[in-house]
Amino acid sequence: MNKHNLELKEQANNYPSLQLSNRHLCDLELIMNGAFSPLVGFMTKNDYNFVINEMRLNNGMLWPLPITLDVDDNFISKISNSSRIALRNKEGFILAILNIEDIWQPDFDLEAKSIFGTNDTKHPGVHYLLKKSKKNYIGGKIEKVSYQQHYDYNELRHTPSQLKSIFKKKKWDKVIAFQTRNPLHKAHFELTMRAMEDFSANLLVHPVIGMTKPGDVNHYTRTRCYNHIMREYPKNSAFLSLLPLAMRMGGPKETLLHAIIRKNYGCTHLIVGRDHAGPGLSSNNKPFYEPYEAQDIFKKYQDELGIKMVPFKFMVFLPKSGKYKAINEINENEKYKTLSGTELRQLLDEGKGIPEWFTFKSVARELELSNPPLTKRGLTIFFTGLSGSGKSTLANGLVNKLLEEGSRPVTLLDGDIVRTHLSSELGFSKDHRSINIKRIGYVASEITKNSGIAVCAPIAPYERDRAYNRKLISKEGGYLEIFVNTPLEKCEERDSKGLYALAREGKIKEFTGISDPYEEPKNAEIVINSSGESPEKLVKKIYEKIVDMGYIERVR
Ligand code: PPS
Repeated sequence: MNKHNLELKEQANNYPSLQLSNRHLCDLELIMNGAFSPLVGFMTKNDYNFVINEMRLNNGMLWPLPITLDVDDNFISKISNSSRIALRNKEGFILAILNIEDIWQPDFDLEAKSIFGTNDTKHPGVHYLLKKSKKNYIGGKIEKVSYQQHYDYNELRHTPSQLKSIFKKKKWDKVIAFQTRNPLHKAHFELTMRAMEDFSANLLVHPVIGMTKPGDVNHYTRTRCYNHIMREYPKNSAFLSLLPLAMRMGGPKETLLHAIIRKNYGCTHLIVGRDHAGPGLSSNNKPFYEPYEAQDIFKKYQDELGIKMVPFKFMVFLPKSGKYKAINEINENEKYKTLSGTELRQLLDEGKGIPEWFTFKSVARELELSNPPLTKRGLTIFFTGLSGSGKSTLANGLVNKLLEEGSRPVTLLDGDIVRTHLSSELGFSKDHRSINIKRIGYVASEITKNSGIAVCAPIAPYERDRAYNRKLISKEGGYLEIFVNTPLEKCEERDSKGLYALAREGKIKEFTGISDPYEEPKNAEIVINSSGESPEKLVKKIYEKIVDMGYIERVR
């Protein structure tokens, strides 16, 4: 850090601090490194209003999306007397000083409609605005203290000036950028090769690794895939650099931002295909934007942008010739093949392998490794039900069957086990039960992430906590909820621990089913009505169901 930055850092220690979110961190990095030029800070109210209404900054320059710093009321109350604040990363390091020019409360509905053309929260950009964004915006110029320290792929990250000087050294005067948030397959390879040939230019493969669409392939897997595909390009024709952009999935308008960024990185062209930066389908299962709307808007503003578009239609594979062609170039009766994202995911789930016409072997191998078939993927089996419903018996029986099967390590997180080893300080108040269930969820999610099977068996009486766990764990692998639906009367009749009797006498407070509610699951994958059948038979049934769902290999 140079002297000036050290001084700034010392000053910043006296200012109110804001800990930045992932989106803020991405935006700040691109403001500081010049990728968002001409922006020199988070937008002021004036710039924001111009962008919302005119798609321009206050100075008239084209700018499609707001780049804003959202904060909560609590933070606003802390900064009443300050004109400068310190922006810190998650570890508490000061990255920049923001000189406050404006603080205001935006109209998120208006912003959503004007920027994304909708207020449907199925749109990830709208979802952020209406569900996640803090109420207030603070705008003003940024003074850089230090870049965010990254620990991954530093050799593949570049500032605009670094990339420009690399192009200069390589004597590349025409550079076509290829934006992506997905692994590259043969269609993309063919398309980029063709673009280089058509324009006698070089290629910058410029994937976004900041924030992309929820559910996308993680950037570690993608970068391994990019490294493989870079070896397929002719020597010294293409270059890979990773871009820490937080995408808004803003379709046509985001395409303009992608163009501005690539121009700032020294590119002369940007490839724009079908549904560029597309947000997926709306609540009515319709696309938010027309398939080639991004190309239309780019065409309109191309001169002003100072970077040219390389438009591409959808590429398809022709089995007869073994070649790829744009869909508009093939004859009406010619047979062609494509593979959608959903079809690709299905092939991976079933362990069927990705066809060679679709992707390079090296890329297929990476995707197969990071998306093992369901029979090898981590899994959480979450029993829920009243005390005495039979959860523990069934969970124990199932654990043993899974150990006999032997495909993954198995961990049992039974209610009593957890309360002994993980939650011994907790009681049975609403808050304590929530903490207990979330702890189980966290441990189960880690087990699932690392390809094990977690079998959990707490009462978990509240839907909210179960939904929280379902969401957390589903990100890491499989999740099956099993509702052990034994009626209260039956559980009370069994009363194996003698607790129901004590609860009826009022000696145990907040007892589930007696003096505290049990909210029955509405969307459990398996419901067990235990009355009449032996535990062995029920365990067998559960096991069979898990086999049917594809998580255990069927023995023939
Ligand atoms: S929770 O709500 O999911 O956190 O409960 P859990 O940790 O699964 O409870 C484990 C066992 O604690 C006994 N117990 C009670 N259950 C419900 N309410 C109250 N107030 C209570 N006090 C103690 C109960 O026997 C649970 O046993 P099982 O049979 O394992 O469900």
